[in-house]
Amino acid sequence: MTYDYEDALDYSSRWLGVIQKNEFPTVEEAHRIIDESKHNFAEHYNRNWLEYRKSVTQAGDWAAVEWSGSGAVFKDVLGREYLDFLGGFGMMDLGWSHPDVVKTVKAQLDRSPMPSQELLDPLRGVLAKLMAEITPGDLKYSWFGASGTEANEAAMKIAKLYTGKSAFIVAVKGFHGKTMGSLSLLGKSDYRAPMGQMYAGPVYHVPFGDAEAVEKQLEICDRVGIGVAAVMFEPVQGESGAIAPPDDFWPRIREATKKYGVLLIADEVQTGLGRTGKLWGVEHWNVVPDILTVAKSLGGGVMPISAVTTTEEIFKPMMYPNPFMHTTTTGGGALACSAAIAAIHVTLREKLWEQAAEKGAYLTPKLQDFVVKYPNIFEKVTGMGLLIGMHFKNPEIGYKVASGLFKRGVLVAGTLTSAQTVRIEPPLVVTYPQMDALLNRLEDALKEIDQSL
Ligand SMILES: Cc1ncc(COP(=O)(O)O)c(C=O)c1O
Repeated sequence: MTYDYEDALDYSSRWLGVIQKNEFPTVEEAHRIIDESKHNFAEHYNRNWLEYRKSVTQAGDWAAVEWSGSGAVFKDVLGREYLDFLGGFGMMDLGWSHPDVVKTVKAQLDRSPMPSQELLDPLRGVLAKLMAEITPGDLKYSWFGASGTEANEAAMKIAKLYTGKSAFIVAVKGFHGKTMGSLSLLGKSDYRAPMGQMYAGPVYHVPFGDAEAVEKQLEICDRVGIGVAAVMFEPVQGESGAIAPPDDFWPRIREATKKYGVLLIADEVQTGLGRTGKLWGVEHWNVVPDILTVAKSLGGGVMPISAVTTTEEIFKPMMYPNPFMHTTTTGGGALACSAAIAAIHVTLREKLWEQAAEKGAYLTPKLQDFVVKYPNIFEKVTGMGLLIGMHFKNPEIGYKVASGLFKRGVLVAGTLTSAQTVRIEPPLVVTYPQMDALLNRLEDALKEIDQSL
């Protein structure tokens, strides 16, 4: 394609009109938007997405192009309604377009969306204080980025800076993001192997939940003189299918890391802010990590923002002698911080972690009943709170369940590191009637699949 400024001007002008229009599109407009979206994805974004997306392959004559949402329900551009049991892979704890977050962000938008980069921007300080107040132990200083992987990259750098060491111990099937550092920690070859050499320091993978394996790896590194900067895990693994560790895991690795002078990083990007039934996943085991990362729902489902929070002592090398050791121009801007302040406020006010615990306790036994009733389909159901994994006999069945649900107007989450697992990860504000609707439609899909086996 050659330069075409004229067309870019016309095209963007037309889309500014679409974006700024308040009314729902007419059917003709909707059809045009669907056709255009498919064309643009195929020609300019990623053609192969169209093959993979159930919203394209399972939506009937017209692909589902999302348009608006509220709570745990969203609509496509044709006005078709979907129950959201994917929750943006954990980004929508507060549901779609939470009114308090939207109102706050709009107000900040009208005042000043981005900081000067030189003056003190007040919201960054407010959010840092809130993070100190709501995180466990004496975690006190924060750095802000836009995505989970950025928070984890920062956590790795902080651990290296503080310890002066380079190795990391992480989990098989663990997921921490897809930029080079986080990706080097990935516990599955699919996304990592094609990249070849990335992080140059040693990375050791141990089975998740196996405290003895962590203790042994720490002991071996100590004995052979390999300096370990940090041990890093998700409190409950998300992308591998909502896998909770045994109860002794986190307390034992906390003790072992202290013994060897190694930092403990909790990646709460997906589990943080209530998802598993506590505000932080590590609270299930009363463990205080040295570094905690969070993203996804920190922006209230409205803005992208992530945080890494640690103690004053560990944060010192980020402050002295050079306070600009780790910076980003756009991360932690005023709009993003305003969304996070509102999201934290709503989470605390509504005690969303308690809702996750109660709703998970309602949903999980009913899903367990399906495991007994459909033994040819299910392997097991795992998880904590509203981070629930349905594990099927094979990936084909997993796909059939997810597409069967989509055809029935329910969106669920696949996983990045386990092909035969489907996650149930709705907004924490999901209602009981919506959960009953999920169960009814799931049973309907299961019956159909069972008959076809
Ligand atoms: C535990 C965990 N860490 C990190 C990430 C990466 O976050 P992001 O996609 O915002 O970079 C994810 C994303 O799924 C995650 O689940």
